[in-house]
Amino acid sequence: MKIIKIKNLSWDPSIYPRTTKSQQTINAYAEALEIGAQFPPIKIQRVFNYPDADGNKTTLATIILDGNHRYEAFQEKGIEEIPAIEWKEHPLDYEKNKIPLLLESAKCNTIHGDRLTPNDKKRVARDIASTDTECNYTEEALAEKLGVTRQTINTWISDIRARQRTNRNSIIIRLSRLGWTQEKIAEITGMTQGRVAQIINNANFCEINNLLTQGHNMEYIAAHYQMDLALTWAIRLQGKTDQEKFKELGWGLRTWDQWNFNECDERFGDDWPARHRSRIDVRSGEADGGQVAGGGVVPDTCLLFERKCQAFDLASRDKRPEIEYHHWDPQKETWPVTKKPDLIFFDPPYYTKKKKEYEQKANKDIPSISSYTKKDYTQFFKDFFTLAHKNAKPTTTLAFLNADWPARHLPAMPPRLPRLSKPVCLEDIADRWRAGI
Ligand SMILES: C[S@@+](CC[C@H](N)C(=O)[O-])C[C@H]1O[C@@H](n2cnc3c(N)ncnc32)[C@H](O)[C@@H]1O
Repeated sequence: MKIIKIKNLSWDPSIYPRTTKSQQTINAYAEALEIGAQFPPIKIQRVFNYPDADGNKTTLATIILDGNHRYEAFQEKGIEEIPAIEWKEHPLDYEKNKIPLLLESAKCNTIHGDRLTPNDKKRVARDIASTDTECNYTEEALAEKLGVTRQTINTWISDIRARQRTNRNSIIIRLSRLGWTQEKIAEITGMTQGRVAQIINNANFCEINNLLTQGHNMEYIAAHYQMDLALTWAIRLQGKTDQEKFKELGWGLRTWDQWNFNECDERFGDDWPARHRSRIDVRSGEADGGQVAGGGVVPDTCLLFERKCQAFDLASRDKRPEIEYHHWDPQKETWPVTKKPDLIFFDPPYYTKKKKEYEQKANKDIPSISSYTKKDYTQFFKDFFTLAHKNAKPTTTLAFLNADWPARHLPAMPPRLPRLSKPVCLEDIADRWRAGI
């Protein structure tokens, strides 16, 4: 056991399995410290290759694997040193060991004290599955570490694994269905246009219905074709009406305009800070341009409902080439959409709500909208809407998604200003938009 200076410790949310700290536990520990209670040592690990505070360079750090509540209580009481044990005696390369660090941290937090909630475990499993693109961690291994059944792990991560098994052909088919020209697909895949055309024309998925009749589920079928789940669903539902698609997706039918969907549909879009619900996208219109596309719910939904889509975000990813890199800075007046859209689905950061998460993808020169001051944030919208209006058709609808509550799944804060008595309906916004207000 070692005695460590508290100020030298780092708490790293990306390898710590809890999404929330319990203030109640911290208070109880702080009270116990006051009357001289002894606590077991926290668990730490020295690492190198760790991103510094600005994210520009790497540095050495000592990160907490277990005992964050104890660490907080010691800090609160102004105690400068804390007993700690090291997991591995030698420093580890942080970049190469993120998954083992997260798993060790989850394991410690699974077996004692404030146990991890199922939601925390699910986040850990999904984080690991997303990072572990080579699928080195089996469902069995994750189940054992997190103390849940293999079946539970399967429900939590099957969509991620299906996407990881996606092959290049299915990416080409996805892009083509979203309206990309063969020329543009050839450009980003480095293939000839002829080869792209061949892949699109030879795609044959007629067995999907046979596989379904044989009792296979959609995850199995996606894996069979090495496709992601959204594309597999899109092919299965091809040619059906929107209403039939709603029914088959289990979304039910709604003929009114107040939407209240509590959960994301994990079949569509990736796990993403402030990922929204696919059903909202579908209610919002005909064709599309997802303007800050994040986890890809808009393109996935367009794929399902056979709409064309151009999607943009400052965080672009290899697995989702349909989300093109674009940094919105309306003062530069750059509008990346090549065809005037029928619908603009604009889902920017909700002020500073996910500031930390988005900033990992941004930097000083290309700031995330979530880092703006309130004044700049409001100005951003003024400029963006003016730019969008300039580049839209008279009939273009704008769907603008924003949130006014502090965290997802929590009710709205008690109002300080008079609130709208009913939810803002996108159609109202659309009417104002058309009227140029
Ligand atoms: C609310 S999220 C979008 C979530 C997405 N609709 C989904 O369901 O996954 C906001 C997105 O805005 C992106 N973003 C923030 N500032 C940006 C900027 N200046 N230009 C482009 N994208 C930006 C973030 O990377 C983030 O993915």
